[in-house]
Amino acid sequence: MPESSQEGALPAAEPSKNPVGLDPADWQQFRAAAHRILDDTIDHIANVRQNPVWQPTPDATRERFAQPIPHASRDLNDVLDDVRAHIFPHATGNLHPLFMGWVHGAGTPVGMVAELIAAGLNMNCGGRDHVGIEVEKQIVRWMSEALGYPASASGLFVTGSSMANFLAVIIAKTEALGQGARQTGLRNIEQQLVAYTSSEAHVCIAQAMQLSGMGSANLRSVPVDVAGRMRMDALSAAIAQDRAAGLLPFLVVGTAGTVNTGAIDPLSEIAEIAETEKLWFHVDGAIGALGMLSPEMRDLFAGIERSASVALDFHKWGHVPYDAGFLLVRDSAAHKAAFAQPAAYLQRSDRGLAAGDTWPCDLGPDLSRGFRALKTWMTIEALGTERIGDSIAHTCEVARYLAERLERDPRFALRAPVALNIVCFGIRGATAEFTRNLVLDIHESGLAVPSWTTLNGQLSVRCSIVNHRTTKADMDNFVGILASHLN
Ligand SMILES: Cc1ncc(COP(=O)(O)O)c(C=O)c1O
Repeated sequence: MPESSQEGALPAAEPSKNPVGLDPADWQQFRAAAHRILDDTIDHIANVRQNPVWQPTPDATRERFAQPIPHASRDLNDVLDDVRAHIFPHATGNLHPLFMGWVHGAGTPVGMVAELIAAGLNMNCGGRDHVGIEVEKQIVRWMSEALGYPASASGLFVTGSSMANFLAVIIAKTEALGQGARQTGLRNIEQQLVAYTSSEAHVCIAQAMQLSGMGSANLRSVPVDVAGRMRMDALSAAIAQDRAAGLLPFLVVGTAGTVNTGAIDPLSEIAEIAETEKLWFHVDGAIGALGMLSPEMRDLFAGIERSASVALDFHKWGHVPYDAGFLLVRDSAAHKAAFAQPAAYLQRSDRGLAAGDTWPCDLGPDLSRGFRALKTWMTIEALGTERIGDSIAHTCEVARYLAERLERDPRFALRAPVALNIVCFGIRGATAEFTRNLVLDIHESGLAVPSWTTLNGQLSVRCSIVNHRTTKADMDNFVGILASHLN
């Protein structure tokens, strides 16, 4: 630690001598402004319950961000005043315990500090021999351990699970067609490739098939049982039918926590079929995979350790600040074979900053990459997996509590079993339009943010309890909010 960072030992301000450099002219003034906004951000998190969950962005704020590009410099304090006035009050709202829409992580103060450090160091984690690469490898090893993968597995930070799932599809395709197909594409393939996932899979799987050039028409949507889990008889039948038609099944994607209801596909049984049929078995664990950090929940995901790859999001249940998606791949050679691309300007050496054999840029399409590993490492290091795992299990307990409350109340009807942390319900006798307006009215009240989805043709209110701050008392409060909108 430089001496200057100790309390009361600030360095003498060194005015910039470079008239075209972008550093502050006065470091002391900059330091004071930075400390103030750090305090404001901490206050924002600490006092989150006292503010509306969400409020609409007013016209004045929209206009503030419709200005021409500024040519002149402006005092940082003024810019930060704009941040205080326009950004803080109109954020998404996912820090608030009554934010239950979609699947949003809440972040942690530790993660915020990590982001600050990562931005200050401004490392490029695409490659080269520096500590950022070691931190990322540490997370790969930790996730291998947590998910029951071998220590030789490889992994990569990406924006989110949409991207991680896409990369997994690309790896599976390269594994099925061989390296040559990276040059020749799909034109010369003898058999059409087909993939399988459940009808409840996230839409990014179909999108990944589109982006990969294989087409979403080559993704079979396997029906689910009443609990929203992929039906194994239907999977086997679809594979047999495709083989009989001369197609080449190559990939099955199971979901550990479906986006609609949190259902977990029978991962062990999928693994069995994938092994017999020689398919790449990928798990979309965007929502659920980190549940493996909770000893009481691990059994729910039995079979995940037999998969070939897993996509997961630290920014959801892990509460690492956005964005922090991650891909874990059992066969590191297959992973690298799908992306590594030698280039004269990226040559490796056995020493110096250019050292290292496999760089993250060999494992995905990003060359320039931020230091997502730091905020993940700091979150896990500071909080520990026990505390994170307990908070994950607690969100499921809170979800079950909400479901039980709704079930006891004749005004509501549960629309799906609660497998994890997602509760879907309807208002008895209500039309889709009424339900839609109810959700939007609650948003605009600033009191809570549920979202919606359509289940079996019925528009349903959907609460996904991801937030580590959410309690059972919040659910009592939420049911009260719902009731007040029904009267
Ligand atoms: C099951 C599932 N898969 C994939 C995704 C996409 O993840 P991301 O938003 O991190 O890209 C989501 C998002 O909620 C999801 O629920």
